[in-house]
This record gives sequence, C-alpha cells and structure tokens, in this order.
Amino acid sequence: MKTSRLSAMVAPVCLLLLTACSETSHQPVIVIAGADPARGREAIVRYGCVACHAIPGIGNPGSNVGPPLRQFARRAYVGGVVPNMPTDLVAWLIDPPAIDPRTAMPNMGVTQADARDIAAYLYTLQ
Ligand code: HEC
Repeated sequence: MKTSRLSAMVAPVCLLLLTACSETSHQPVIVIAGADPARGREAIVRYGCVACHAIPGIGNPGSNVGPPLRQFARRAYVGGVVPNMPTDLVAWLIDPPAIDPRTAMPNMGVTQADARDIAAYLYTLQ
C-alpha cells in the first residue's frame, strides 16, 4: 500500500522533470560564438519578454500577445519576414520595426550583446 502510494506521487514529478528537460536542456542547434544561453535567459527575464510571449523555461505560459517561442530553433522565419538565422534574429531582437515596419513587437532597447545571448537561449528551444 505504502509503495504504491509513493509511486503514484513520484510518477507525476518525473513526468514534470522530463518535460522541463526536453524543452530547455538540449544543446543549441546553432551556436553563436561568445554568446551564453544562461545569460540570455536572464536577459529575457530582465526585459520582460514574457509579458507578451510564452517562453519555455521562463514562465508566464499564458502570455499570448506575441507567438509562443517554444521550439523556436525549428522556426523557419523570424516574424514571418527574415530567415531564422543568427544575424537576422539578432537584428530582429534589437529593433523589430526596422525589419518589419508593421510588426506589433516594439523596440525593447535590447543591446547587441544581450540580443546575442537571447538568441543563444532561443536556439536551445527545440
Ligand atoms: C508588447 C509585446 C511584445 C514584447 C514585450 C516582446 N515581443 Fe516579441 N513579438 C511580439 C509580437 C506581436 C510578435 C509577432 C511579430 C510579427 O510576426 O510581426 C513578436 C515576435 C517575436 C519573435 C519572432 C517569433 C516568430 O515566431 O517569428 C521573437 C524571436 C521575439 N518576438 C522575441 C522577443 C523577445 C526576446 C522579447 C524581449 C526582449 C520580446 N519578443 C518582447 C510582441 C512582443
């Protein structure tokens, strides 16, 4: 009796851990020289990106103003307008309206260094 109760409690916890791992701890698909996904995660929190986006590993999964960024490494285009490659992604993060004047994503004042770190984090989302 005791054992079965224990396993009933442990199973969901394992499932949660597995889910967390599958979304955040993969090696990045694209490596950006000198950029650090862990710093990128901090920058995403600091800039408040989750106010508009659901981002795996960061929280606020209910945000729906912008598209959810899950599996972002597999996305073909950024904002539907430029290829999802490091140079274009970093340029988007620094100034989205400069890439697409009609986009609803505002210029968040992201620095070049922060944009590179954020891109590194987003490329871990497979
Ligand atoms: C005020 C809401 C808002 C905030 C804050 C915001 N975004 Fe966005 N973001 C959007 C919207 C809306 C889009 C969709 C733009 C489009 O397709 O033109 C978008 C698109 C994107 C895309 C492209 C997604 C795709 O599938 O093509 C990325 C990457 C992104 N945002 C990252 C960020 C990051 C990182 C931050 C924080 C620095 C951030 N956003 C802050 C609203 C926001």
